[in-house]
Amino acid sequence: MDLFEYQARDLFEAYGVPVLPGIIADTAEEAKAAAEKIGGVTVVKAQVKAGGRGKAGGVKVAKTADDAYSAAEAILGLDIKGHTVKRVMIAGGAQIKQEFYFSVLLDRANRSYLSLCSVEGGMEIEELAVERPEALARVEVDPLTGIDLEKAVAIAKAGGFPDDLVEKVAPVLVKLYDVYKGEDASLVEVNPLVLTEQGDIVALDGKVSIDENADFRHPGHAELEDATAADPLEAKAKAAGLNYVKLDGEVGIIGNGAGLVMSTLDVVAYAGEKHGGVKPANFLDIGGGASAEVMANGLDVILGDEQVKSVFVNVFGGITACDAVANGIVAALGMLGDAATKPLVVRLDGNNVDEGRRILAQANHPLVTVVATMDEAADKAAELASAAAVEK
Ligand SMILES: Nc1ncnc2c1ncn2[C@@H]1O[C@H](COP(=O)(O)OP(=O)(O)O)[C@@H](O)[C@H]1O
Ligand SMILES: [Mg+2]
Repeated sequence: MDLFEYQARDLFEAYGVPVLPGIIADTAEEAKAAAEKIGGVTVVKAQVKAGGRGKAGGVKVAKTADDAYSAAEAILGLDIKGHTVKRVMIAGGAQIKQEFYFSVLLDRANRSYLSLCSVEGGMEIEELAVERPEALARVEVDPLTGIDLEKAVAIAKAGGFPDDLVEKVAPVLVKLYDVYKGEDASLVEVNPLVLTEQGDIVALDGKVSIDENADFRHPGHAELEDATAADPLEAKAKAAGLNYVKLDGEVGIIGNGAGLVMSTLDVVAYAGEKHGGVKPANFLDIGGGASAEVMANGLDVILGDEQVKSVFVNVFGGITACDAVANGIVAALGMLGDAATKPLVVRLDGNNVDEGRRILAQANHPLVTVVATMDEAADKAAELASAAAVEK
């Protein structure tokens, strides 16, 4: 999950990274009040999860509180790379002497962490990376030892900082790494990190991505979620602990195991071509232990998707055998009662498949069609979705 700049700023502050005051505002009036509170020159900054806000007109210096009002008026509602600005942050204005770049990120290819650093930071960093890659140091960071002061000094030197600045900047890099590690982030980026006319090092912009897999260690991270942006079905699935991604299609998909679900999406997309171009409506992996409750939660989410016209349940019985899954489906339909309204195509295979099919046959639920193979089931689900779409 990517954070907004103001959230990154707050984290930085909590970890002792030097930042300037920042107050969030939803209206021009609030922006003016915030500028009055901060006092002096302020900077009004669009809060969108996209870079390049400065170049897009989303960062404006305001000499007075009235200027902050007009700057906020101009920025609120602006479209920056497809993101509409709903909030601004009023930040203290820095007198910038020099702009630097620093980031630390997860380097999947090398199964390690990587730090990028340059004494030449600011808005042109992407161009710098392309035109003069040697000016942007890439330093591997061992996850076991991280960035201590010694390592920070090495990174700053590699990034081209002169000795007097290395001394000033290195302790800040250590604190930024503390944020990265302490919050289980996959990215902490500061561009620009600046030297002010007063001689202070300050993080003026911040981009932080946190690893949601570590949410269990960070109860506070739930508050960082942007509830306004989340898809309501995805939010509902998340609350039920399901691995669900909403897609643009008509055939709801439930499967066990990410690989099986991925290939189910392919097979349904392929079958859909013969049936009016219907497509898979979602990714949903109910995992290995498909209890009735998990099945019911999954069905509930999928049936709540208005676009969905049919559901394909594709399960390969392993540790959780097919009979348990079949019982799960029957129980789930019982739990959902009248809420279950769309046809279900079920393909079961694997451990205890005969017993699983027998249970479904015996239940003889009017919405359920059991199909033996994955291809046939995909075809059937696509056909049903296409027919239901035509009826409407
Ligand atoms: N608080 C601030 N005080 C003074 N100048 C700022 C401040 N925040 C940003 N700037 C200037 O605006 C530029 C762009 O802002 P930044 O926050 O980096 O947004 P983005 O990276 O999205 O363009 C910075 O490179 C810096 O020169
Ligand atoms: Mg920036």
